[in-house]
Amino acid sequence: MIDQENQEVSNEEEFRKIEITVFRYNPQNSNTKPEYQTYTLEETPGMTLYIALIKIWSTMDHNISFDFVCRAGICGSCSMVVNGKPRLACKTRTSEFEDGKITLLPLPTFKHIKDLSVDTGNWMNAMSKKVESWIHAKEETDITAIEKPVEPDVAQAVFELDRCIECGICLAACSTKIMKEDFVGAVGLNRTARFAIDPHDERSDEDFYELIGDDNGVFGCMSLMGCEDHCPKDLPLQTKIAYMRRKMVKM
Ligand code: SF4
Ligand code: FES
Repeated sequence: MIDQENQEVSNEEEFRKIEITVFRYNPQNSNTKPEYQTYTLEETPGMTLYIALIKIWSTMDHNISFDFVCRAGICGSCSMVVNGKPRLACKTRTSEFEDGKITLLPLPTFKHIKDLSVDTGNWMNAMSKKVESWIHAKEETDITAIEKPVEPDVAQAVFELDRCIECGICLAACSTKIMKEDFVGAVGLNRTARFAIDPHDERSDEDFYELIGDDNGVFGCMSLMGCEDHCPKDLPLQTKIAYMRRKMVKM
């Protein structure tokens, strides 16, 4: 028979307290100024930063702002800076931090909305237009015709690069992007590589050079590897940037 009283005591002893310090600022409100706010909460088994933030929002501070949609590392909206490194809140467990102290800041390089919330969507949209992120084919696609076969290894290579979730973490980890507002970053260069290897896209290397053959494109990358080191989808970003750069230097 379970001793309910002792059970509760032992559970209390088991769960440690953690401190989450959050950057608070609303640039839309001239009465606020940037500050940090610390919340102390009980860590539950398997707790992620997303769960911790929901707990703070629902039990302590209904005014705190942060973004999320999928809670499964798929939508890319919960990226933020965690103890100095850009990461996905929904894929980061609080147990990783041995001293239980975690500081959260909004992702740099994007427009700050409020607290931990930034606008990645408009930047990603502009980048997609800039690198013309769509299939360019001379003939109009006949959707009634049987699709042209693609070699399985080529289809797999395209799929690999299509796994990008537009979280913006590669940009937040990139020194060039922090210095150059218009740099398309690993996410943009990865996108061009995706279309360059796709046989459905008929663009030439000259066409890609017009889009990324400058310092805001493939020649802006300093190969510091911040993008690949932090990408939560483990995309081969440096390999693909090098692939595009090799093509572009021949122009
Ligand atoms: S390349 Fe990786 S880090 Fe960059 S936006 Fe895509 S998934 Fe995020
Ligand atoms: S909530 Fe979608 S990636 Fe974290």
